[in-house]
Amino acid sequence: MKPQLLHSFLFQFFLLCTAASENEAQSTGETIVFTTLGRSDYAWDIFTLPSSDPPNPSNEHRITDGVSVNFNGHLPSSPSSSILSLLRNRSLIQAPSPQAPTGLQLIYVTERNGMTNIYYDALYCGVLRSSRSRSALETPVRVQAPLLGLEESKHRVSMKDRPSLSGENLIYVSTHEDPGEPRTSWAAVYSTHLGTGLTRRLTPYGVADFSPAVSPSGVWTAVASYGEDGWDGEVEELSTNIYIFLTRDATNRVKVVEHGGWPCWVDDSTLYFHRKSDDQWMSVYKATFPKDKPILANSVKIQRVTPPGLHAFTPATSPGNHMFIALATRRPNSSFRHIELFDTVKNEFIELTRHVSPTTHHFNPFISPDSAQVGYHKCRGENNGGQTSQLLLENVKSPVANLSLFRVDGSFPTFSTAGDRIAYVNFPGIYVVNRNGSNLRRVSPLNAFAIAWDTVRKGILYTSAGPEFSSESTEVDVVAIDVDNVDGSNHRRLTVNGKNNAFPSPSPDGKRIVFRSGRTGHKNLYIMDAIEGEMGGLQKLTDGPWTDTMCNWSPDGDWIAFASDRHNPGSGCFELYLIHPNGTGLRRLISSGKSGRTNHPSFSPDGKTITFTTDYGGISAEPISNPHQFGPYGEIYTIKLDGSDLKRLTHNSYEDGTPSWAPVYISQVDVVWSKRTQCAFEDCHWLNKMSGGRGTMVEPLGSVSLNLLASALLWKRNCGGFTRASYVLKGYKQVIVEMDNLEALSIINGSHSDNISITLVAHILNIRNRNWNIQFKHVARTGNCVSDMLSKLAPIADFSINHWNPLQHLLQNDMMIGY
Ligand SMILES: *[C@@H]1O[C@H](CO)[C@@H](O)[C@H](O)[C@H]1NC(C)=O
Ligand SMILES: *[C@@H]1O[C@H](CO)[C@@H](O)[C@H](O)[C@H]1NC(C)=O
Ligand SMILES: *[C@@H]1O[C@H](CO)[C@@H](O)[C@H](O)[C@H]1NC(C)=O
Ligand SMILES: *[C@@H]1O[C@H](CO)[C@@H](O)[C@H](O)[C@H]1NC(C)=O
Ligand SMILES: *[C@@H]1O[C@H](CO)[C@@H](O)[C@H](O)[C@H]1NC(C)=O
Ligand SMILES: *[C@@H]1O[C@H](CO)[C@@H](O)[C@H](O)[C@H]1NC(C)=O
Ligand SMILES: *[C@@H]1O[C@H](CO)[C@@H](O)[C@H](O)[C@H]1NC(C)=O
Repeated sequence: MKPQLLHSFLFQFFLLCTAASENEAQSTGETIVFTTLGRSDYAWDIFTLPSSDPPNPSNEHRITDGVSVNFNGHLPSSPSSSILSLLRNRSLIQAPSPQAPTGLQLIYVTERNGMTNIYYDALYCGVLRSSRSRSALETPVRVQAPLLGLEESKHRVSMKDRPSLSGENLIYVSTHEDPGEPRTSWAAVYSTHLGTGLTRRLTPYGVADFSPAVSPSGVWTAVASYGEDGWDGEVEELSTNIYIFLTRDATNRVKVVEHGGWPCWVDDSTLYFHRKSDDQWMSVYKATFPKDKPILANSVKIQRVTPPGLHAFTPATSPGNHMFIALATRRPNSSFRHIELFDTVKNEFIELTRHVSPTTHHFNPFISPDSAQVGYHKCRGENNGGQTSQLLLENVKSPVANLSLFRVDGSFPTFSTAGDRIAYVNFPGIYVVNRNGSNLRRVSPLNAFAIAWDTVRKGILYTSAGPEFSSESTEVDVVAIDVDNVDGSNHRRLTVNGKNNAFPSPSPDGKRIVFRSGRTGHKNLYIMDAIEGEMGGLQKLTDGPWTDTMCNWSPDGDWIAFASDRHNPGSGCFELYLIHPNGTGLRRLISSGKSGRTNHPSFSPDGKTITFTTDYGGISAEPISNPHQFGPYGEIYTIKLDGSDLKRLTHNSYEDGTPSWAPVYISQVDVVWSKRTQCAFEDCHWLNKMSGGRGTMVEPLGSVSLNLLASALLWKRNCGGFTRASYVLKGYKQVIVEMDNLEALSIINGSHSDNISITLVAHILNIRNRNWNIQFKHVARTGNCVSDMLSKLAPIADFSINHWNPLQHLLQNDMMIGY
């Protein structure tokens, strides 16, 4: 050890001790952090547009609070007075005056205070006197009331979804009951009487149901369900069937449609649904029940409603309306999901939201009972009247009282050993931020994944990085980065052969590093010297023709936990294993059932428990109802080292991944930062596939980084810039970047160095290295550049095209909980 290092080692050791004793004092529990792809950008509100007037920004109305994450609305037909009279918490009902006319009432899902719940909002058209100006302002007064308390879910944490009101009963999905089987969804439909709270499960035990819809008479409920066959691991379109049953008592359950999802009723014998057609377009279909025969799958008449040539899905109807339905579309000439009407008499589409917010995704339409309004949710954006604080640490309601659970706005979030800083990766770039959100810094421009802090030397991070601008994406090496010395000499490469060396995890004494390497042609585990790297000594820990990966060294030094498919090599099925660092004691910690995906183990500070991400809880909603998630099944779990006490911590329909334990307890409060623009999420990648002319599949090509890049340039140059990528015909390998900012354009076009915007340049160099034709086009625009920038921030932040990344397969292999 060099004298300098030794000195710094002693100094850090001293710091560590003081930090630890400080934290000890406040410690009353434990903390797990994890990430959810895109979720921090889901600043959603519910909006409406009239169904008959030409849509324009002035007749679009935001009808939720502009603060929470609000989605999947339903406009009930019962009068608001009767709903309000049913609410059990009387203190919530402070209508402005009993006579005040309600403008609108809405039932919807909301994520707030770390939980999902179903809320009821009534908007009154009240008149408020502003104290500052004398003018009277027409301001809607909002009553917001939760429709469910904790008791309806037996005081368990759960996801709630797809509410609708039928008489005095709320029908909805909840995930609070554990089916007790690996890879089985917890989603089931429940009915709660609003007046008494009496709750009844409508889904049979042993079955999962999604997307419930109640018929106009209230007699029938339709659901999408696998029935008893269960989930087979799909993450795109689910191969569900549609079942109906009596809403009253869940009897008379019968399958009415083979292959379909997202049912909605026009009357008690007509429902619409979506399915992927044989020509690969998602399309809306109509099912008509026989009037004179028993309703069975083979007696139901099924007709395709929407034509090939575009994806049409998540249909919505209103009672008795045989004239039109609403649906979401992805058209070949748009990268955005829009809400349209479909005239079922003339067989014509009527576009709605593209006239209002063309470059924003819109989800899951619904129609008011009188057919006059169409609702949907979308990102509120800065100019849609909402204010959202972007959260660095989002407190997520934990089922364990003294375990804090935080969603971090960054991938592979990892706390420093002293618990004061968080590192995360951003594809590309590694960032470090204080845990209170201050002092955010990029400490490396590398395209890297998986990070771990050194346990002894303060400020040293280990990561797995591809060589900068490498065209060979499998070249990955373990690198140590000194985050407190960011002058270019702070990177040390510890592995040298570039054979997919990744997932470094240091031993608690800071002397060695376990990592996985593909150097033999298979990914197995190795241990090397933490300072000298593999040149200072290399031990092969596991060996075999399978994949061992995502290793984590226990705090007591005795165990290494990892994910492996060794029980079924190449199957893509990963389970968790434990091994001693000396190669003895190998055992399986958890099996995840047939083709399960259980990944990313991380030890608790006391070494007795492991947190990980898994598809153990199946899928919780139809993936098409959300933006893109690689693995919509991912949930965070814990298990004791002896295999006992398996616990599910998170409940949602997103991919929760890469959990890690913090060394200190952090109180369960959001940490806000005002760092990034919102709404930078992508639509389901599989909907980007469109059938083009001459039968060729066309994929819009581009990358999320073009988007990030545009925003980065905006910030940097304080000026407008707009990028879009063109569609790319398979085989033609061409991408067109359009910008309205000549200055930015010439920088990108001319630059072969990395000092302007590493993101853009890296990706463009990558495209060039692959002999793609890349064209830069200036798109003329007029107007003031600063105000243009402001007006364009929201749509650009929404910019969403197919995720193309040179490390794409690594992402899928390693970061995401897929394989
Ligand atoms: C969490 O609470 C349980 C019971 O209240 C207690 O046994 C346990 O020690 C606590 N854990 C920590 C880390 O404080
Ligand atoms: C009723 O609602 C109020 C306001 O949100 C809340 O403070 C109170 O705890 C609630 N009471 C019950 C019994 O849930
Ligand atoms: C997409 O195509 C439709 C129908 O062909 C057309 O009406 C619409 O204007 C096009 N949209 C864009 C954004 O070009
Ligand atoms: C955040 O934490 C840093 C480091 O602990 C501290 O210096 C800073 O004052 C804190 N900032 C705020 C706003 O609390
Ligand atoms: C291997 O290591 C474990 C714990 O780290 C220890 O209990 C065991 O005795 C060791 N076995 C050998 C053969 O050294
Ligand atoms: C981009 O660069 C190429 C060559 O470096 C040049 O010929 C072309 O005019 C540039 N395009 C724009 C739009 O600046
Ligand atoms: C890139 O960095 C070099 C050296 O630091 C500097 O001279 C040059 O101006 C930078 N280029 C731009 C466009 O900022």
